[in-house]
Formats: sequence, structure tokens, C-alpha cells
Amino acid sequence: MKPIRVGLLGLGTVGRGTFNVLQRNQEVIRRRAGRGIEIAMVAVRDLARARALVGDSVPVTDRLQDVVRNPDLDIVVELIGGCEPARALVLDAIAHDKHVVTANKALLAVHGNEIFDAARQMGVMVAFEAAVGGGIPIIKALREGLTANRIEWIAGIINGTSNFILSRMRDTGASFETALAQAQELGYAEADPRFDVNGTDAAHKIAILSAIAFGVPIRFDAAYIEGIGSLAAADIRYAEQLGYRIKLLGITRLTPGGVELRVHPTLVPMKRLLANVEGAMNAVLVKGDAVGTTMYYGPGAGSEPTASAVVADLVDVTRMHTADPDDRVPHLAFQPDALVRLPWLSIEDTLTSYYFRMRVADQPGVLADIARILADFHISIDALFQREPAQGENQADVIMLTHEALERDVNTALRRIEALETVLAPVIRIRQESLA
Ligand code: NDP
Ligand code: HSE
Repeated sequence: MKPIRVGLLGLGTVGRGTFNVLQRNQEVIRRRAGRGIEIAMVAVRDLARARALVGDSVPVTDRLQDVVRNPDLDIVVELIGGCEPARALVLDAIAHDKHVVTANKALLAVHGNEIFDAARQMGVMVAFEAAVGGGIPIIKALREGLTANRIEWIAGIINGTSNFILSRMRDTGASFETALAQAQELGYAEADPRFDVNGTDAAHKIAILSAIAFGVPIRFDAAYIEGIGSLAAADIRYAEQLGYRIKLLGITRLTPGGVELRVHPTLVPMKRLLANVEGAMNAVLVKGDAVGTTMYYGPGAGSEPTASAVVADLVDVTRMHTADPDDRVPHLAFQPDALVRLPWLSIEDTLTSYYFRMRVADQPGVLADIARILADFHISIDALFQREPAQGENQADVIMLTHEALERDVNTALRRIEALETVLAPVIRIRQESLA
């Protein structure tokens, strides 16, 4: 059988990895897919650089339209990133009857519903394993392996760059800036690394997972997002003293009141596997009602780990492209007419436990005032310690962990606490998850 013909948009970190893996493993891939998979055209901005990478064997163009409209291509792989022109190109490829493979979570989180609708109307596939968790087959696991389950919640480390930064800062004492520069050098970071640091990239990914888990349209705009930019070394240290690690988690949970969708630094008990996921590794915990809790772990970013997922999609599309569209796995795991609309909870409606750090005057009665306010809002203290004031200082840090409380109550209580004369700075608050 003739090889399936692929057009590649973008030859950066992931594009290069995809090209190399397809070349190196072409024989084993052909045996698995049932026919060869051939890169037949590449589109980039910098023609000279691309030619130096792929040689003369593959036509290279800087006109992306020439790929998405090429009648000789079966699949378009979009690896340029960002929303535009990626959205227009993907829709154009679909309109020209091409299957699409993409690693672009920003695109799918914001425009996925529109893209999947267009693909359904044309009877083509849009595959996106590489968009979440790099090389971890988490989309496959959720859409197929766990299909018997009612999914209850997902919590994961799904941004390699921020996890790499946190690990580096803790283990080597590297500064935030040095660690970020290393992540960029290693090809982990987004073109705009602010997306990694401020939680947006993780929010793109958890929004996609949430839709697949609960059978709802993708709602990135419903996500609460907080990044690692304002984490203080003191809190990382105090958390460790209490037996916790701070990780940037993406969390989505189906509650009786609606769906939680949030990304924020989180205290995770040190004994949990998730707390020990280091560097650019990712890990996703999924709780299903039948299977219980399962965990998926592996490289969350980087050239060939991500290419591994892109090529897996290419093999899937190659195997399935002659199948009746109705017999394929639906894009969001649920049949499109079975998607439901559920309420999305604001962060204020979230029930979780907390870490607080309060800078207070070191004098009698301070703790009693704070405890009274917390009690007024049904916030119960689980653990508490006070850092001894340095010599000559009449201030101290009070660190406490709470039991579960409603975020709305916590906000009001903290406003009252911060209004006390003896509380000398805004209270630091970090959410905590037991992941039990
Ligand atoms: P890079 O920035 O390394 O590569 C992007 C490529 O696209 C470059 O070849 C660039 O060309 C080309 N490109 C960008 N815009 C255009 C344009 N308008 N016209 C033509 N070519 C363009 O990105 P990555 O490979 O890291 O990421 C690609 C996608 O994969 C993104 O969606 C990213 O979020 C996703 N992803 C990345 C992972 C990673 O570990 N890096 C992991 C998982 C997903 P030029 O170099 O000439 O500018
Ligand atoms: N910038 C992303 C990360 C790439 O660091 O996780 C993988 O999606």
C-alpha cells in the first residue's frame, strides 16, 4: 500500500523531533500502522534552516497554505503553536478534507469546540495526544482505557517548565531566572514562557482534560488560574517542615454543584507519588468510580517525548482513516450529541484546605484574635507553628494548616485578619490537596 502523506507545519522543537522519530523508526512504525507514514512537505518561516534539517528529500515552503490545501496530502500536522494563524490553518486543512494532528493545547483550549465541529461535519479526525502531558498517553487513557468509569476528579502536574523550575530552585538553589532559562534551552518552555509560569499552559491542558472526563464542551474561560511567579522560598521551606511539597497542579472535579476547574500552587503531602515528580516530568492522577485512582507519569515536554505522542496520533489516524467516521473514538470521548452543559464553579465555591503564613506582632493575644475570626467562619485549624523571632525582632511568622473550608469564607476571614493591627502584612495563602 502507498504510504500515507503528511504535511508538517513548523519544524521547531516538536517538529524536528517528529521528523527525526519518523525517519529513525520508519520500519517499526510501518509494521504497526499497516503502511508507511511519509513527510511529503514542510512549511516554516526560515527556509534555509529547515532545508539544513531535512535535506533535499522533502519540499520545503514558507507558504503554509500550500500545505493545508495540497490535494496530495492526507494529514496535516500543526506544530507552529499559538491561536493564529494556527486556527485558520487547521480549519482550512479540515475544509480541504485533511485529518489534523496537533500538539497545540492553546488552540484547542480556546477554539477546540469550533475545530471539532468543523471536523465532524467533514468526517475527518483531529488528534491531539501531544497537547496534554507531552509523551504520556493521557488522552488515550481517558478517552479509551477509562471509558467504563464515571470520572470524579483529575489532578496533575501538567506543565513541565514550572515543575522543572520548582525542582531546580529547591534542589540546586538556582534562581527563578536561571531555572527558566535552562528550561527554555532544553526546549520545554512555550514560545512565550509567561504561559508556563503564570499557569495558563496548565489551564489550557486541564480545560481539555475536564471536557474529556465529564462529557462537556471545553471551557478554558471558566478556569481559575494562579501561577508560580509569586511563590516565596520561605513557604516552600515551611511546607517541607510540615511534610508537604508545593506543586503547580491542574485540578478538575465533578461536584454536586458543578465542575471545578483550577490551576494553582498546591501543598501535596510528601508521601504522595505526585509530590515526588521532579524536573520536566508530568504526572496525572485520575479518579474513576470503578477503577479507583490511577496515575500516569512520564516526560511532559521536550522534543522526542512530545514527538512520540505526535507519531502515535499519526499511526492512529493512518489505521482509522478508512473507517466510518461514526465508528471512530469521538474527539471529546463522548458522542457529540451526548455532551451536556454543566455549571462551572467559581474559585469562591471551592472547598479545600489551606496553608496560611501570617506575619504578626510577637505579643500576647494575637493568636487568640486570629483563631476567633477563623472560628467565626467555620475554619478549623489542623496544625500550627510559630517561627521564633530573630534576635531583636518583635515580629513572628505564624504558619497554619486548616481543615477543609469554603474559599468564600476564607476570603472574608482573611480580610478581617488582615485588618487586625497586630497582623503586619497580607496573609500568604496556598491551597492544599490530600489527593486521597
Ligand atoms: P517552536 O517555537 O520550537 O517551533 C515552532 C515552529 O513553528 C518553528 O519552526 C517556527 O518557525 C514555526 N512557526 C511559528 N509560527 C509560524 C508561522 N506563522 N509561519 C510559519 N512557521 C511558523 O515550538 P515547539 O516545537 O516547542 O511547539 C510547537 C507546538 O507544540 C506548540 O503548540 C506547543 O505548545 C506544543 N508543545 C510543545 C512541547 C514542547 O516540549 N516544546 C510539548 C507539547 C506541546 P521559525 O523557527 O522559522 O520561526
Ligand atoms: N511548555 C510546556 C510545558 C510544553 O513546559 O509543559 C509541554 O506542553
